[in-house]
Amino acid sequence: MPVTRRAFLETSALALTGLAASAKAHAAPTPSNHAAPAPPTVVASRNGIRGVRKAYEMMTNDQADPLDAVIAGVNIQELDPNDQSVGLGGRPNADGVVTLDASVMHGPTRRAGSVAALEDIASASLVAKAIMDYTDHIMLVGKGAKRFALGMGFKEQNLLSEESRQDWLRWRSQLSPDDDWLDHEDDVMIERPGGTINMCGVDANGDIGSVTTTSGLSWKIPGRVGDSPIIGTGQYCDNEVGAAGSTGRGEANIKVCGAFLIVEFMRGGMSPQEACLAALERAVAMTEDRLLDGKGRPMFSLNFYAVAKDGRFGGATMYQYPDEYLEVLPSRGSYAVANADGARHEPLHYVYDQNQLPGGLRDRMMERVERIRMERAKEEE
Ligand code: GLY
Repeated sequence: MPVTRRAFLETSALALTGLAASAKAHAAPTPSNHAAPAPPTVVASRNGIRGVRKAYEMMTNDQADPLDAVIAGVNIQELDPNDQSVGLGGRPNADGVVTLDASVMHGPTRRAGSVAALEDIASASLVAKAIMDYTDHIMLVGKGAKRFALGMGFKEQNLLSEESRQDWLRWRSQLSPDDDWLDHEDDVMIERPGGTINMCGVDANGDIGSVTTTSGLSWKIPGRVGDSPIIGTGQYCDNEVGAAGSTGRGEANIKVCGAFLIVEFMRGGMSPQEACLAALERAVAMTEDRLLDGKGRPMFSLNFYAVAKDGRFGGATMYQYPDEYLEVLPSRGSYAVANADGARHEPLHYVYDQNQLPGGLRDRMMERVERIRMERAKEEE
């Protein structure tokens, strides 16, 4: 017998009622944080300093929705061709193609949207929001995601900037001395940077929104998706508790569902700061041997940021940056915050101090310091 749409909906509704009843039995634990809504606050990764100011102003001056505000905040980096870590101008994958991942969550309505391996559309965060707003799905990837975005009126454009293309050509020429690619004329050693922006905001009503957007790990294997588009990993928001998000090695975060874990730690009574550090410790505990040094310390970096419903905030990273590094790049080791005290960088707390940095990581950082010093000296000549 053919099933009519109405009958289908009724049957589905009954099934869902059953689900709802059983879901109730497993409902989230009572939040520990019932404090009255506190001052509006926005936190972000270090590169979100312009964005936190904008998001804070939108929430306080225009009473903007917190998710709209933080998305407008990250749009600044997504649309900036000089930011090589997200959106337009992001570094490409191993084939020289820029692919973007992003996810969003809207606390008051408990909705989420996500997009992965998106090509040719700069503002992945807005595509993730459109998936949340206009579909019954949460995540779209690849070609389907692009078709959806074009259908929604997003603009198609080449995301590969000349700077990122040159970096990719350098990387490719340095892969092997025996391949057919000649050395790049400007043979600067090329690093393998990641780069992502996470932003979480709580408004004066205690409503929360969160977003993470990225072009992912540079030179990744085509098809690789990191933590940013995974709800509960790259970012997570529970309107009763707070929000959290991450930047850094996505593969390390995916295994601990870091953003969800931090929100659950906060629900259990930890401060945002304590929760970020505890999640990093969990990530270390879940790290495979090949990525640990002889003393069990990770050979990578991972960063977490969090805001509680009452406006408390925190951020933590794996390693304290060495003093020499901070001399040339002072905002490293910090994250961006905006609240009634203004928009500024705050120091990230860390699991390991600079004396505990594994040799390999320290060497890479010192090489970078040396290179930057030489470049600056050249510019001054
Ligand atoms: N955390 C960003 C990435 O791993 O893609």
